[in-house]
This record gives sequence, C-alpha cells and structure tokens, in this order.
Amino acid sequence: MRLSAQGFISPPGTPSFPIAVRGEGVYIFDKDGKAYLDGSSGAVVTALGHSHPRVLAAMRAQMENITFAYARIWESRPDEELVRRLAELCGGKFDSAYFLNGGSEATEAALKFARQLAIARGEPSRHKVISRMPSYHGATLGALGVTGDPVMEKLFGPMMVPMPKIPAPITYRTPEGFDADSYVDYCAEALEEAIRREGPETVLAFIVELVGGTSTGALVSPDRYYRRIREICDRHGVLLIHDEIMSGAGRCGKFLASHYFPGAAPDILTMGKGLGSGYAPISALVTSSALVDELRAIGGFAHGHTYVANPMGCAIGCAVLDELVQSDLVTQSAAAGVYLEDQLRAVQKRRRSLGDIRGRGLQLAIEIVADQDTRQSYPFELNAPARIEHLMMERGLAMLHRRTGGGQFGEWFMVCPPLISTREDVDRLVDIIDDALGAFERSIDGKAS
Ligand SMILES: Cc1ncc(COP(=O)(O)O)c(C=O)c1O
Repeated sequence: MRLSAQGFISPPGTPSFPIAVRGEGVYIFDKDGKAYLDGSSGAVVTALGHSHPRVLAAMRAQMENITFAYARIWESRPDEELVRRLAELCGGKFDSAYFLNGGSEATEAALKFARQLAIARGEPSRHKVISRMPSYHGATLGALGVTGDPVMEKLFGPMMVPMPKIPAPITYRTPEGFDADSYVDYCAEALEEAIRREGPETVLAFIVELVGGTSTGALVSPDRYYRRIREICDRHGVLLIHDEIMSGAGRCGKFLASHYFPGAAPDILTMGKGLGSGYAPISALVTSSALVDELRAIGGFAHGHTYVANPMGCAIGCAVLDELVQSDLVTQSAAAGVYLEDQLRAVQKRRRSLGDIRGRGLQLAIEIVADQDTRQSYPFELNAPARIEHLMMERGLAMLHRRTGGGQFGEWFMVCPPLISTREDVDRLVDIIDDALGAFERSIDGKAS
C-alpha cells in the first residue's frame, strides 16, 4: 500500500480526509465540489484566504524573474524589501530580519541566535532556555526541547536537550488555593524562581507565546504578567524571545501581539504562518541591528538552511504585507474578532459544551467541556473534539482542534478564520459551530443528531 501524508499521521481505521482541489477566498472545495469554510485558516495560516489575486500576481512576477538565489552568495530584492516592510510594521528597534521556511526553523534560529549572543558577550555558560508548560514552539528537536508537551516529551525525551519549564498561567481552571489573579502572579514569579534555581549564569533566554497557540488554546494574560517577565529577564541578563509565529502578521488584531504590551518588548521575535499566508513556507527571526552587529563582530550568525531568504517566499511575504496594509486588514480583523467573540458568547448560552472563549483578534479558541460549572472535560475515550470536528465537516466547516498533553490541559478548537472574513462569513462560521455543538450534545444525550 502506498501511503501519503495522512497515511503517516493517522492510525488505521481513521476516515479518509477530504481531498482539497481548489481554494477561493475563505473556502476550500473538495473533489466533489463541496465547499468548506476555512474556520481555523488551516493551522492559523491562510490570513488572506485562498487564491488572492495580489499574491498570485506577485508569485507569477517573481517566477518570471528568479525563483532561487542562494543567500550565502546572493542578496535578492524581495529579501531587502521584506526586511524594510517588516521593520516599518514591527516598529521600534526591530529593523532586521532573517527569513526561514517555517515556524520550527524560526524557533531553532532564535535559540541559536541567542546562544551566539551569549558567546559574543563573553558568557558561554548561558545555554538554558526556559519555556512554559504547556507551550508549542515547533516540531524539530531543538524546538521540541523548549516545547511544553508531556506526550512529546515521553516520545522524544531521550533525544532532546531537556529545558526548564514553568507553568503557563492557565486561569480557566486554577490549582487549589489560587484564584485567577494570584495564579497569574505565581506563574510570573515562577520565572524568577526557575532562573535562581538553575543559576542565572546558565540561563540564556525565556521563550513565550503572548497569545497562546494550539497548546493553550489562545491563552492571553493580563499586561502585568508580560511586564513582570520582561523585568525578571532584564534583572538576570536573560534574553526574552516572543514566539509570534501564530500571533504575528495581524492575526491577533494588531500587527504583533507584543504591540498590546508596550514596555515588555522582546529582544528577539519569531514570525511564520500568516507571513506567507499559505502561499509559500516563510518565517522570520526579527531583531534589532544592534544585536545582529554583536554577532557580526564575532563572525556573523553561524546558522542557515539552503532556502534561507529565498526570493519566492520573500516576494510572497511582501505581497501579503502590502495587502494587510492597503486593505487595512489588521484593523478590520480586530473588529471581526470582537464580533466573532460576541457571537460565540451568545452560542455559549445555548450550548452547555461550550466552556471557555478566549484569545485576541482573530486568534480565538473555544474550549469544549462536559459541564460549564465544573469546567470538566469529557472523558478522554469519548474523543469529543474529533466527534464535533466530524459534525462540523459534514456541515461545511473545517476546524482545527487540539488536546494538549493528551487532554490534561483541556480540549479546544482554534476559531481563527482568515483575516479577510466578512461579517457574513463570521455569521456562517458561528451558525455551523452552534449547529454542530447542538448535534453533538443531542448525540451525548442519546438522541439522534
Ligand atoms: C506558536 C508556534 N510556534 C511554533 C510553531 C511551529 O511552526 P511550524 O509548524 O510552521 O514549524 C507553531 C505551529 O503551530 C506555533 O503555533
């Protein structure tokens, strides 16, 4: 039997995925012509939707010029242009960017960039990167080392460099003895404690998602958490890395999630996903030229891949950013996010399985629970998210769900439609979620769906 991607990732007996043959705007069409609303933008990627004319034109134009120029021999116009646009949109000290091909590569690059900075500063003992449990920073072994996921740790632990973890301030369910506020403060202080425990002279960096991705289901914390973390890092000479691979490029209602928290800016940030909007794999390590210069003084950044800063990816990134700016999509999507959240709160009143709604802009998640009061998840064996996903697919909505750490942190769907979504698209998305949750609850009650 020949196996393609689904064959590798799904156990036997899993129903076949529909075959995607065409995409247009917020819809993907299968081989039978059935339309599916792209409710999570794939894995929170397709910010501009599918077949966007501006991006397709940019791709064609770049193809006619040049499709590859190796970055250790050539500079390319799209690379220079994308740095210029990103510097304008990121603002402040963020005037330099190194382009890679996916989020995991950007995480690896950020870790190695931080390490080389420590070497450049004469602090070679700094090598530990603290991160949160749960968290997600990528699938390659270095990125997995800073990812907080007990299931992955069990599988790949012996092959990874284990890195210290502190708890992510998940406040939907707090441990005994805490309320939401005291738990957030406890989690911030956990960074201070971890640095002291590990030995400040060994700690290189702290990496954090400001608006959580799939690992926490769009967790957002109060301002003071991010400010405190910045203070703690500063006090110990620890670099702060913001993983904006999902939240960046307008997804969360501002160009960067860190723009919500002025005064807590990182030293290094990473972007991916929406930057290429699914038209080509492209991601970025973004930082200040002052830090890059420190590395240049010791011979430059000793890291790269064949496709670093490739002209096709960079040309696509430029077209995506131009569209975001010229169609004012970040502002529009922020408003769409507020509207979507309001509509989901109305559904929550009707559907007992809709536990929590959280996130920023169009980076939202809905947590599925068996009981809104106790906030308990459904029994693991029931596989509620997969059943709900199936009901959504039947109704023409494709949605990404996640059970981090085998469900021990909860179960949720990422409600992250493309940034181009209109009010009608949002209404349709919410109607299908409502209808699918209703059908799911009736099936649990033993009635026909
Ligand atoms: C916050 C975050 N960091 C890193 C990654 C890894 O990105 P990729 O899957 O493109 O390697 C992801 C992917 O979901 C992510 O959400």
